[in-house]
Amino acid sequence: MHIKNNIFFILLIAFAACQNNSTMNNTSNTDSTKNDADTTTQLIPSAKDFQSTIDEKQTDLYVLKNGNMQVAITNYGARIVSIIVPDKNGNPTDVSVGYDAVKPYSEGGDTYFGAIVGRYGNRIAKGKFKLDEKEYTLATNNAPNHLHGGNKGFSRVVWDAQPQNDSTLILTYLSKDGEEGYPGNLTSKVIYTVLSNNKLKIDYEATTDKNTVLNLTNHTYFNLNGQGSETILNHAVMINADRYTPVDSTLIPTGKFEAVKGTPLDFRTPTAIGIRVNDTSNQQVKFGHGYDHNFVLNTKGNLNEKAAEVISDQSGIVMDVYTKEPGLQFYVGNFMNGSHTIKGGKKDDYRTAFCMETQHYPDSPNQPNFPTTELKPGQQYQTTTIYAFTVNR
Ligand code: GAL
Repeated sequence: MHIKNNIFFILLIAFAACQNNSTMNNTSNTDSTKNDADTTTQLIPSAKDFQSTIDEKQTDLYVLKNGNMQVAITNYGARIVSIIVPDKNGNPTDVSVGYDAVKPYSEGGDTYFGAIVGRYGNRIAKGKFKLDEKEYTLATNNAPNHLHGGNKGFSRVVWDAQPQNDSTLILTYLSKDGEEGYPGNLTSKVIYTVLSNNKLKIDYEATTDKNTVLNLTNHTYFNLNGQGSETILNHAVMINADRYTPVDSTLIPTGKFEAVKGTPLDFRTPTAIGIRVNDTSNQQVKFGHGYDHNFVLNTKGNLNEKAAEVISDQSGIVMDVYTKEPGLQFYVGNFMNGSHTIKGGKKDDYRTAFCMETQHYPDSPNQPNFPTTELKPGQQYQTTTIYAFTVNR
């Protein structure tokens, strides 16, 4: 049965490839064939709905392919729009929540769907930090704190896109000195690569001309049963972390490290999200309105060791996470409320997706016990995260 479906899937891809002799979509190559290819799979939005001019820059949709995997990315916010992988029956399944046009990303309320968030992913307490004896003030866009780089951050700007080949896209963005209140001209580069065996690799690089702080991550919302499916509460999660950074009621770390043992945050063995997500007898679950916490990874930056694993309950799709980052923010869509229409006319209902944001710890610029997030001129920021997809049959 799956062999048959696999063959069907391969034929589908082959057909799509024939229809679309340019697998890399970009504005200089605006033709209708790529849209035919997209509609063939019925899953990747039409590139023309991403072709717009925002802040005097062109936006577009880029489709990366390798084997059975396709990833659609827009240069608006360097966002992942779709991640298509086969399920246990070989059926292409879109596991990433997103919109089917650029407009809702640029005009809608910000959910950070698929975005690269920066300069500082996660929160900075009261929007203030000190660097070299100088205090910097940032937007408190998540009152009373600064969140995900501020009002526009990196998720609401247009990045420059340089397609490399069928499976690699480079996006760059120059954030000027003082932008969103941060010091230094910072050039960031994000490289998306679809590797063989259904792996998505994200490499991040950056340089600055003044001392600054930086914490880049990707904010994809995953539902391994397919975006727009029901809740992720029956997904089983493993997080390779003995400790986490507890937070106050505004989700700012207290600065302590606490053991997950004996708490609802113990995911050292695969456990369904829903079992303990409402256990508000635990103050941390109460503060997070569920899970919205930074886990201190045991992997300590080792990209070869598994940081996390998520096992779907219906599609058979399994996602493993590998990262050079020391932390992982596990968020389960506690603020999703069905107010956005996502791809295929679906709604972003409560807890219908989860995020695994690989990162440095929240509020590091104000937390002397946390690994530094400072970047200095002459230094090269580099980090990598891999999301690897397989199936459990
Ligand atoms: C997460 C964050 C949540 C929430 C979400 C966006 O990264 O941890 O608290 O702000 O982004 O809605």
